[in-house]
Amino acid sequence: MRLNIGVIKGDGIGPEIVTEAMKVLDKVADAFGHECAYTQLLMGGASIDVNGVPLTDETIELAKKSDAVLMGSIGGDAKTSPWYKLEPSKRPEAGLLRLRKSLNLFANLRPAVLYDELKGACPLKEEITTGGFDMMIMRELTGGLYFGERSTKEVDGITYATDTLTYNEEEIRRIAKRAFDIAMKRRKKVTSVDKANVLDSSRLWRKVTEEVAKEYPEVALEHMLVDNCAMQLVKDPRQFDVILTENMFGDILSDEASMVTGSIGMLASASLNETKFGLYEPSGGSAPDIAGKGIANPIATILSAAMMLRYSFDLDAEADAIEHAVSEVLKAGYRTGDIMSEGKKQVGTSEMGDLICGYIK
Ligand code: IPM
Ligand code: MG
Repeated sequence: MRLNIGVIKGDGIGPEIVTEAMKVLDKVADAFGHECAYTQLLMGGASIDVNGVPLTDETIELAKKSDAVLMGSIGGDAKTSPWYKLEPSKRPEAGLLRLRKSLNLFANLRPAVLYDELKGACPLKEEITTGGFDMMIMRELTGGLYFGERSTKEVDGITYATDTLTYNEEEIRRIAKRAFDIAMKRRKKVTSVDKANVLDSSRLWRKVTEEVAKEYPEVALEHMLVDNCAMQLVKDPRQFDVILTENMFGDILSDEASMVTGSIGMLASASLNETKFGLYEPSGGSAPDIAGKGIANPIATILSAAMMLRYSFDLDAEADAIEHAVSEVLKAGYRTGDIMSEGKKQVGTSEMGDLICGYIK
């Protein structure tokens, strides 16, 4: 099979970690008789440097022509980077939001798994995590506060800033269905997270989610208020299977969930639309402080490439091969600095990529 993959290396550690993911993809392609054809795309700070804007129409068109896009991370240090002297709509993050919206990537899947080998990196007490946890956060990605009308204006000498949170029932229904579909392949539980004790948008969210649940009698649906969910994630993360939530809540809860797994450097993500197309990226940021040092953890990007094979290309055996190789390398005791612990062997970014390739047969 020929895989047409758009590649956004991005900023900071992005180029280093994407290079390793491509190395692993090429190894898998070789082992299973496929061919990867890459198209390099510019987005974020790298695009500002070349084109003056974080995302061009041409890049959107090229992304649409690809079967899937693999991305590193974008953005720089907000205090020192010249990108943040630009107005907000011209900064790196604006490119990412526009790309998500233009490609209609409404379903953001962020798995948070506690690897047995990395238990030591988990900041929670051992009795809370015995047996590990494995949850999937399904974050709505093209609506809510991120895309509502906003304005800043002065009235009678006082400055007002407004952001609006809007959802329609169709937007809620399509993401809820995705969550239930995924739950059917997992432990058949959906926790829908909202703030229905305060927000109208959350009350609609709850109503529509309950309607969708009727189509999935095998899946247990529970509702949880977002503040309680933030607490439950550290109190008892094992209770969660699929967490379904709106854009802003999902942004916050997914960072929290990643932290309890021990390292954000391990977490993959997929952003999907109604077709097989997807944008795959690590959940972590561009870490400008360690960029170019060859020490970043490439595993989240490598696991994102595995998600790409699974969701965009239906290549399950190939995705399994990558995930298996990652866990073998961890079992063998190799660690990048962020997940290092006593008695393990510390390796750099490209050595980690090579080691993972070595376990792909
Ligand atoms: C994420 C990031 C983005 C978001 C930023 C970079 C705009 O935090 O993917 O979680 O808020 O969605
Ligand atoms: Mg975030």
